[in-house]
Amino acid sequence: MQDISLHILDIIENSVRAKASLIKIEIIREMMRNELIFIIEDDGIGMDYNTLESAQNPFYTSKLERVKKVGLGIPLFKQNAEMCNGRFELESELGKGTKLMAIFQYDHIDRMPLGNMKDTFVGSIIGHPEVDFDIVLKNIELDGTVDEFIFSTREIKKELGDIPLSYPDVMTFIDQLMEEGIKKIKMEEF
Ligand SMILES: Nc1ncnc2c1ncn2[C@@H]1O[C@H](COP(=O)(O)OP(=O)(O)OP(=O)(O)O)[C@@H](O)[C@H]1O
Ligand SMILES: [Mg+2]
Repeated sequence: MQDISLHILDIIENSVRAKASLIKIEIIREMMRNELIFIIEDDGIGMDYNTLESAQNPFYTSKLERVKKVGLGIPLFKQNAEMCNGRFELESELGKGTKLMAIFQYDHIDRMPLGNMKDTFVGSIIGHPEVDFDIVLKNIELDGTVDEFIFSTREIKKELGDIPLSYPDVMTFIDQLMEEGIKKIKMEEF
């Protein structure tokens, strides 16, 4: 993986495959702690204890269709976070959902760039209109100043009424909203 947005995309796809109806994503730059934090939570089918343990090791997958019989998404994300003096936590409950947290040392020399989060978000939202997304982006500066951007497809759907998310103007609207949010919290700097 060349950037963190590809990890996020993989985690979102895992949640979608787990039949999540709501995916919550939080990205926080915490300058006082020098951390870049990713929290992704879904209300999908969840994992039992064995699957949860296996998922954190390479070579486990429940995908049937695959040729290479390995699941690498989670282990690689974990490895990258830990390599950057960070942490990785995965919690799951069968029938309830799954929560993942990855923390990177923000200024670690090996930390990969964030990548194009806007396209990752917009692509996931448009690509999975049946799934709702709650996105919270936060920037906490050294002096404690907090900038926050909150986005919810449920709110947008409420406003849209009968107009589907796939409607071209809606896509443009979501794209612009996301771009403004990213600017507001200075995520280009992350
Ligand atoms: N959010 C989730 N809910 C339920 N099960 C999950 C979730 N995320 C991962 N899993 C389980 O963990 C396995 C490993 O996930 P991982 O992303 O590492 O590999 P993969 O998705 O199978 O393959 P790859 O990501 O390499 O294409 C999945 O096959 C699935 O069984
Ligand atoms: Mg995966």
